[in-house]
Amino acid sequence: MGNVATFIHGLPKAELHVHVEGTLEPKLMFDLAAKNGVPLPYARPEDVQKAYSFRCLREFLDLYYQGTGVLVEESDFFALSQAYAKRAHAQNVRHVEVSFDPQAHTARGVPLAAVIGGLHSALVEANRQYGMSWKLIMCFLRHLDAADAMATLDHALEHRDLISAVGLDSSEVGNPPSKFRQVFKRAKREGYHTVAHAGEEGPAKYVREALTLLCVERIDHGNRATEDAALIAQLADSRVPLTLCPLSNLRLGVVERMADHPIREMLEKGLLVTVNSDDPAYFGGYLNENYQAVAEALNLSRDQIGQLARNSFLASFLRPTEKERLISEVDRFVSADRT
Ligand code: ADE
Ligand code: ZN
Repeated sequence: MGNVATFIHGLPKAELHVHVEGTLEPKLMFDLAAKNGVPLPYARPEDVQKAYSFRCLREFLDLYYQGTGVLVEESDFFALSQAYAKRAHAQNVRHVEVSFDPQAHTARGVPLAAVIGGLHSALVEANRQYGMSWKLIMCFLRHLDAADAMATLDHALEHRDLISAVGLDSSEVGNPPSKFRQVFKRAKREGYHTVAHAGEEGPAKYVREALTLLCVERIDHGNRATEDAALIAQLADSRVPLTLCPLSNLRLGVVERMADHPIREMLEKGLLVTVNSDDPAYFGGYLNENYQAVAEALNLSRDQIGQLARNSFLASFLRPTEKERLISEVDRFVSADRT
């Protein structure tokens, strides 16, 4: 048995909750800003990280949307997605389900085809180069109105085959899932998988709404479900996955200390929980750093860490045969570590 970091690194894993715009590292932000003539309120890349001190989701989102302003051409989306895939591969991530926010770009006049084209080409390339499989999740910005989301959904139908799922992100409080009922109904009719951020800053009631009104297949975050014991029992029973993001939760004040993170308790209650990085360039770590943070703070056993990796494939939108193949790789890795 090696140390925990080596164990986590070696585990085959999937990442199901990562915003590609949240993988924009300061160096690439500066390079793209210079190329596209976009002004930034920082003198050097080193100054960017210093500004990343957030008291809440709103403060983070302000900087996150500001960062997206440097993404202008199709090649920028390609470079962004390529850099993320490279880092994920280096952490032994075998499958990625990558979220993007089309409205954050189309509102600035960037064509949807440039956004989707750039992301898609880089993921095709990552599959060829690393054997990494991928899905794209198109998220609607919940602070905008439902008509805007519906128009985005309509427009994206031109690229129907490239997008696997729709999601819901941005400022949660005051923008409940119920606002997007018709949009999700339509998305389901078009054959998209569905996910939604809920219970990050918003109450357990929003998690219930995402399940019952939007009928989503996964909940992104879901931390505040812990405030409703019946909901936790329902999540354990239904095995609707939660994509938890430990470092994000710490940096946005969703948990005060990592030792307070609910992932271990949820795992022990039988919920299908997974570990993810959310916006790794902003929150100080990619996937392995997120596994390490919870493993250490919550003293997780190797079986529990292995279960989190298994869950990442189980909760994915991969075909059953692919899930089985990757889960048996996890099993082999965990058994070999015991001997
Ligand atoms: N968009 C990017 N990261 C997000 C988060 N953690 N919550 C809501 N919207 C987001
Ligand atoms: Zn998120």
